[in-house]
Amino acid sequence: MAKMKIVVAYSGGLDTSVMVKWLKEKYDAEIVTATGFLGQVKEIEGVKEKALKTGAVNSFIFDLRDEFLTKYAWKALKAGALYEGAYPMATAIGRPLLAKMLVDVANQEGADAVAHGCTGKGNDQVRFEVGVQSLSPHLKTIAPLREWEFKSREEEMEYAIANGIPIKATKDSPYSIDENLWGIAIECGVLEDPTIAPPEDAYQITVNPKFAPDKAEEITIGFEKGVPVSLNGVELNAVELVSQLRDLGASYGIGRLDLIENRVVGIKSREIYEAPAAVILHYAHSELERLILDKETFRYKQEVSDKVANLIYDGLWYSPLFNSLMAFVDSTQENITGEVKLELFKGSIRTLSRSSIYSLYNKSLATYTIEDTFDHKASEGFIKVYGLPYKTIAETKNTINHEVAA
Ligand code: ARG
Repeated sequence: MAKMKIVVAYSGGLDTSVMVKWLKEKYDAEIVTATGFLGQVKEIEGVKEKALKTGAVNSFIFDLRDEFLTKYAWKALKAGALYEGAYPMATAIGRPLLAKMLVDVANQEGADAVAHGCTGKGNDQVRFEVGVQSLSPHLKTIAPLREWEFKSREEEMEYAIANGIPIKATKDSPYSIDENLWGIAIECGVLEDPTIAPPEDAYQITVNPKFAPDKAEEITIGFEKGVPVSLNGVELNAVELVSQLRDLGASYGIGRLDLIENRVVGIKSREIYEAPAAVILHYAHSELERLILDKETFRYKQEVSDKVANLIYDGLWYSPLFNSLMAFVDSTQENITGEVKLELFKGSIRTLSRSSIYSLYNKSLATYTIEDTFDHKASEGFIKVYGLPYKTIAETKNTINHEVAA
């Protein structure tokens, strides 16, 4: 009988390296590894060699940065999707793309299963597995970390050494870090105590706002149909634009978040994030929407933003509702074209200017000067009719007590 073939989502770290060997033995399987490069600062050099040395029959590395930004991050940005109002979801939007990568490799290689290195209590296992199920229902998914016998990092190390798995002799970080171009997530260690402020060494790329330059920096971001296309007047592709904003934002201490969040499995967890590019772009994008969207669309879209964020966070990227809501979002973005000028200063962002040929801001309506063209008298009738239901209530023996003196 032909051997089982498993595609492993491989980072080259301890967990996924041990996984290659462990799966190969436990399932008597052929292992193929797939690594997606989403712009992590951590080196992916040598990952292929390491996978093959560890026992994989084949190893693929894909530069997915452009696809990640243009097909995943841009959607979240257009939707204004910030989980629980704050987290720009770098990890959560990366997972469906990595799930797709696994499925593509599995189909191309004729594999029976895919495996990932997520723990049994996090969100990422849900995102990977629901993603894989949605894209290729015949594939089996294996989560060794939920199954295997190792109870600690030390036990994994012992196994690695005993099996000749190349492991780096670098000092262990006390944190669990997931990173890509859109942002970095950092948890574990002392961060597990929500009464303790994050120590400086937990942050990977941003400077402490206190130590950011004393001088402010002005930047102008250009958008077309809700998508950022230029920085300071220079047209840039997605990877360049986000990389530049990440580095610039990080140097001004922008994009640090310290959050308690509700996980899919019901646990509350504490995680810190560094997402300079995502935070700047969400800020600028929403400034433009304030200028351009009509009142009803603007208000309705806020509800949709929240729903889209929950769907992404909960691993439902490849779902009918996500698609339908994104069709709505895309239609709202038709006119989100224009420029936003921002000031970055010691961890904060301030708007200096916003402009668009589709701006609905009408100065002659808004002004309190002689230039005013708004018909003030029209407000009288409007308010009479608008307030009528409440006047009617007040004229009856209503039970609402507004505590008005009789
Ligand atoms: N809490 C974030 C999410 O579920 C990030 C998870 C991964 N974090 C990590 N430090 N490995 O999207």
